[in-house]
Amino acid sequence: MPRVMLILPTETYRATAFLHAAEELGLQVVVASNEAPTLAALMEGRVLTLDLRRPAESAERAADFASRWPVDAVVGVDEGSVLTAATVAERLRTPSRNPVQSVAATRDKRLLRQRLTENGLPQPRFAALDVHAGAADIDSAISVTGLPCVIKPVDLAASRGVIRADDRTAAGAAVVRVASLLREICADGSVSPLLVESYVDGVEVALEGLVHQGVLEVIAIFDKPDPLAGPFFEETIYVTPSRLDDPAQVAVISAARDAVTALGLQHGPVHAEVRMADSVPIVIEVAARSIGGLCSQIIRVECDDAPGETRSLENVILREACGLELGAMHMVDRACGVFMLPISAAGILRGIGGANLAESIPGITGVTLSIPVGQPVVPLPEGDRYLGFIFARGDSPEPVESALREAQALLDVDIREMPPGGIEPPSTG
Ligand SMILES: Nc1ncnc2c1ncn2[C@@H]1O[C@H](COP(=O)(O)OP(=O)(O)O)[C@@H](O)[C@H]1O
Ligand SMILES: [Mg+2]
Repeated sequence: MPRVMLILPTETYRATAFLHAAEELGLQVVVASNEAPTLAALMEGRVLTLDLRRPAESAERAADFASRWPVDAVVGVDEGSVLTAATVAERLRTPSRNPVQSVAATRDKRLLRQRLTENGLPQPRFAALDVHAGAADIDSAISVTGLPCVIKPVDLAASRGVIRADDRTAAGAAVVRVASLLREICADGSVSPLLVESYVDGVEVALEGLVHQGVLEVIAIFDKPDPLAGPFFEETIYVTPSRLDDPAQVAVISAARDAVTALGLQHGPVHAEVRMADSVPIVIEVAARSIGGLCSQIIRVECDDAPGETRSLENVILREACGLELGAMHMVDRACGVFMLPISAAGILRGIGGANLAESIPGITGVTLSIPVGQPVVPLPEGDRYLGFIFARGDSPEPVESALREAQALLDVDIREMPPGGIEPPSTG
């Protein structure tokens, strides 16, 4: 039975799905996380505490651990752990792993742009910017990118801190806003820099795939039918199969494959975002992880090695990490989709009504609310959570999208302004 080290940041949405898939496959699991579980003492050889901000130090700790309890594969489940996972895997020399430099380039949007540029992929124009940039620096970045432009931190995810600016004043305000977000979340003072890019106009899709020995197998292309024109880029609906015409889908896949090759990714999941700008696919981003949040619930895969067998996305990721051949992969459902429920206002979540009604809409397969009532909520561009997720399946993308919209419209979200002085005590009534 292979032993797999799952690197699970404490705040991840992805733990349950991966642990479930590992159990289904009968794998022995080592959970590596940034906080020790309460019963760590009773779980010797099965848990490891790592500082995920320090990949090199984590690799040494993991090597020490693996000298006592050998590890066959290392899987980082999301953006916060893929670099540590690659560094640990390299230190342990596990067979299915990505080069650290390749993963590092997916974790720093400047490196990503440099790699794609070196390999001739069409891209937005871009310029790096310091968080302390003044008007002259911003002007000089804009002289490279033009307007409108997009300002973003180099290493966050889920559109956090990503802002479109249409003129110099908006660009200046965006820099100040993102810089203050970064100062708030980088408690140790190591504030990461910014990237300015020219704004790419066009419809956007997300491609979900799995790389095996350097070859990207596509699992699905998701349309994002709600416009993503800024100033903030809140993701809502994902629906697959894509309604782009065949040549456009072929172009998207070929751009994603070129990007994977340019980055040198060898193994594991890829989540890529591509915009179609006048029929030219522009890679916005490549992440060396699977789809975020709870979205993977809608993905059910059939692989050529086992026709008729339905597998979860995490199941195929773990199989690949353990060196199993899967062949081509296909989605089991004719169409499916997810609605990521955005946070519309800052405050305290007082409740979300209508979930049962939403679940009763034909085609809806589930509604999961992911923020407990009473918690503070923060919208984009500062926030990084979703209120929850609505899942749907159907015979074609149109009814799936309609069901998701109908279900979302039935939800009654109650967010109250944060009381002065912070959160009020829970009511006892
Ligand atoms: N240069 C750009 N042109 C147009 N839209 C962009 C650009 N950069 C980012 N976006 C939009 O912002 C979203 C988030 O940006 P991205 O670079 O993917 O950062 P994150 O890592 O936060 O997902 C993208 O999915 C896209 O909709
Ligand atoms: Mg992205």
